[in-house]
Parts: sequence; structure tokens; C-alpha cells
Amino acid sequence: MAVPDDRRTLVTGGAGFIGSHLVRRLLDAGRRVVVIDDLSTGRRENLAGPAGAGDGALDVAWGTVSERLPDLDPASIGAVYHLAAAVGVRLVVERPVETIETNVLETSAVLRFAAAAGAPLFLASTSEIYGKSERTPFAEDDDVVYGPTTLHRWSYACSKAIDEFLALAWHREHGLPVVVGRFFNTVGPGQVGRWGMVLPRFVAAAAAGRPLEVHGDGDQVRCFCDVRDVVRVVPRLLEDLACHGRVFNVGHDEPVTIRQLAERVRDRLGSSSEIVHVPYEEAFGAGFEDLRARIPDLTRVREATGWHAEIPLDDSTSTAIQRTEFRRERRRLTNVSRRRAVADAARRTAQHCLQMVPSPGPEDVRHLVRASCPVPVPRINQQRMGIEDGHGNSKRCTSVAEAGCRVCVCVCVCGVQPHLTGLAHPGEVWMLAVVCHRREEK
Ligand SMILES: NC(=O)c1ccc[n+]([C@@H]2O[C@H](COP(=O)([O-])OP(=O)(O)OC[C@H]3O[C@@H](n4cnc5c(N)ncnc54)[C@H](O)[C@@H]3O)[C@@H](O)[C@H]2O)c1
Repeated sequence: MAVPDDRRTLVTGGAGFIGSHLVRRLLDAGRRVVVIDDLSTGRRENLAGPAGAGDGALDVAWGTVSERLPDLDPASIGAVYHLAAAVGVRLVVERPVETIETNVLETSAVLRFAAAAGAPLFLASTSEIYGKSERTPFAEDDDVVYGPTTLHRWSYACSKAIDEFLALAWHREHGLPVVVGRFFNTVGPGQVGRWGMVLPRFVAAAAAGRPLEVHGDGDQVRCFCDVRDVVRVVPRLLEDLACHGRVFNVGHDEPVTIRQLAERVRDRLGSSSEIVHVPYEEAFGAGFEDLRARIPDLTRVREATGWHAEIPLDDSTSTAIQRTEFRRERRRLTNVSRRRAVADAARRTAQHCLQMVPSPGPEDVRHLVRASCPVPVPRINQQRMGIEDGHGNSKRCTSVAEAGCRVCVCVCVCGVQPHLTGLAHPGEVWMLAVVCHRREEK
């Protein structure tokens, strides 16, 4: 079944790792897309590329699914991809209430919305669903085995299982066209290690010469599928009528142990980082259990779509490494040249300011900033500039004046010495105007 072209496609969690790749894929296929994302684990910059295209094909509503859904007219939506979820082992263990509520309540809201829209819905589920079953490989109709409810670790798997039950119930009871995709470990460009994702965590550690922390004995087996492969099959599954009401494993079936993965990353980077083993209890708290092997049986998805993952793990690893190295190099260069430029600009501006106005007030500062900044300053936010002038505060810079786009102006009002602190993010253009109080001369 083709999704009607005149209606938009809703992607929840579209600023996330997988969601942003899917958005790009849908836009490339000529779809108009609307994203809902609350940026809890997603990143605004993940959508910078497609959003920057500026042809109106992408709309983004920042906020939670349940907050923003009422703003959407169901009649304008032709398909829904529901990827928003509380994700990542660390998040799940640290914030179990958020995990359960996000995964269950938001999914319920999206399913109701899809039903009102009469739109087919893809539900992003997970291999965690299989729990600690010892079968290998996992096939979609296998039994699932969970630990006790006193161990929060299982709340992610159970909440996603409820999502699946609910989606399939909507299909059975109300004929809603739903497809459940159980993603196995997914890696690739844009993934970050902050919430415990293993590959970016290893790459960042090895690149920085820090120890690579392998949880447990490292013999646990995983299969990693590149996100660029994953988003090739997801729309295909949703658009095929024969797939509705069914569950599909989506992943790669090339197994690797976590220790082997750490060694591969380290070797590829030529890093001398140690590989250290951290007991699960230490990493995630008492009673944490992990699966020994998580390998998908991909027969069903292959038979239904002819799809198979094409990008080997070594290529995904190389991409992750290249991106990390690029970011590090850019940060290094930016830091060196920024510090030099900031120091020069600050010195010149301070001299200029002191000649012009010995004791500048907020208005003077705004004037001086505009006059001395080599780039146009569209707007200076006086409140954030927070000029604590007149108080001779000799500590750090007062604040940042948001000047729009990629240019910021930082104004220091220092009692004794201008303090040049590292303020900008890599890639931003900064101009620092330092206005000195002449208190020391009194
Ligand atoms: N990455 C993997 O290896 C993997 C494996 C199995 C399943 N999955 C599933 O795939 C989906 C996407 O995962 P990901 O790896 O891209 O994670 P991600 O954290 O990068 O993406 C999730 C996105 O949802 C957003 N979000 C969370 N709660 C929200 C809410 N209430 N309202 C609006 N937005 C919200 C986050 O800000 C984020 O952008 C999830 O459903 C996850 O369970 C991922």
C-alpha cells in the first residue's frame, strides 16, 4: 500500500539517532515530513541538514508527543513512524519512571492519533523484547523471558512489549495498519555514547587514550546493523500491505563479542588504551543481568522484502572513527585559533572601550559591542548580557549575549582583569568584547 503523497508523514523521535536518518530518507523519497521530538536524548543538529534544505518539506514540533499531537490535524497525516522512546541502558536504569511512562503512554497517544488519521503506523521496538531467553538466534514468535519487576533493568523490555501488544491490539480490534520492527543493536553516523551506546563510547575512549570499559566478561555476543541499512527497510515494511499486523526483526546477523569490538576499535585507531572489565553491578547497580547473545533470525524480513543489511561492522566502525577524529581535530583547531582571535579582539576592544567610556553602563556596552564587532550583530539580548556593571565584579565573564545565527558576542565586565574563558562551542564564530572597569585606578 503506497502512502498517499499529498499527506505528510509523522516521525516521532525524528531528532534522534535512527529517527533523523529516517527523516532524511523520507525527504529524499519526496515525502513531506513532520517531526515531533522533545530532545530528551535527541539532538537539534541531527536535523540541521534536512531542515536547512528550507524547501518546506520538513516541519519540526519540539515537545513531547502527547503535548504536540493535539496541534496536528489527523487528516493531514498519511503515515506515522513512532520512534520516540526512552532509550539506552543507562537512562533506563537511572530513570525507570520516565522510561515506563514515555514508552507506554506516548505510544498509546500515537496509536490513537494514527487511528483518527486512518494512517498506517510503524512501531520501533527492540531486541530487548526477547529478555533473557537463551535461544539463539531469536525469531519473532519465540517466547520471551524477563527478570523480576524489582529489577528496573527489565522495565524497558516490558514497556516495549506492552507497546507491541497495544499496537497489535489496535490492528486486530480496529484494523489499524501497524508494523512492528524489532531493531537489534543499531550503529552508524550520528550515534552518541552518552546513554551507554557501546560503539561510540569505545571510539571516544580509544581516541582520547582513555580505558575502554567492557561491561562483564566481554564474551557477550551482539550483532550491529548500520542505521543506513535499517532506514532502507523501515518504509518498505510500512508501505507493504502484506506486512501489516506483523512483527519483524531488523538487524545484521554478523556476531561479535563486546571484547572483540573493543579490540577492533582500539586497533583501528592505533590507540594504546587499556581494555578494562567493569562488573555489571558497578556499571548499572545491583542485580543487573545482561543477555549472553543477541542474534536475530532475519528469515521473515528477508522473505517479506528481500532486504538484507549490506554495511559490514568494520565500515560502521570506520565511519564512527572518522567522525570522532574529525570532531577532535576541528575542536583542536577551533580552540587554538579561537583563543588567539579572542585574545586579540578582546585586547583591542578593551583599549578602545577604556578610551571611550571609563565606566560603561548597559547602553554604552551595547553601543560599544556593535561598534567594535567585525560581524553584524542583529540583536543583543540585554537580559542575558546581564551586565553586572558598576559592581566591579572581578570574577568571570558575566554572560553571553545571544546575537542570533552562529555569531555570539560575549561581554565581560571585569573589575580588575578581563578573564578570557573558553565559551564557544566548536564551529561557532565568536567575538569577545571586554569592557574593563577602571576600579583599580580609583
Ligand atoms: N539504537 C538502537 O540500537 C536501538 C535498538 C533497538 C530499538 N531501538 C528503538 O529505536 C527507536 C529510536 O532509537 P534511537 O537509537 O534513535 O534513540 P534516540 O534516543 O536517539 O531517539 C529517540 C528520540 O525520541 C525522542 N523522545 C523521547 N521521548 C520523547 C517524547 N516523550 N516525546 C517526543 N520525543 C521523545 C528523543 O529526544 C530522541 O530524539 C526507539 O524507539 C528505540 O527503542 C533503538
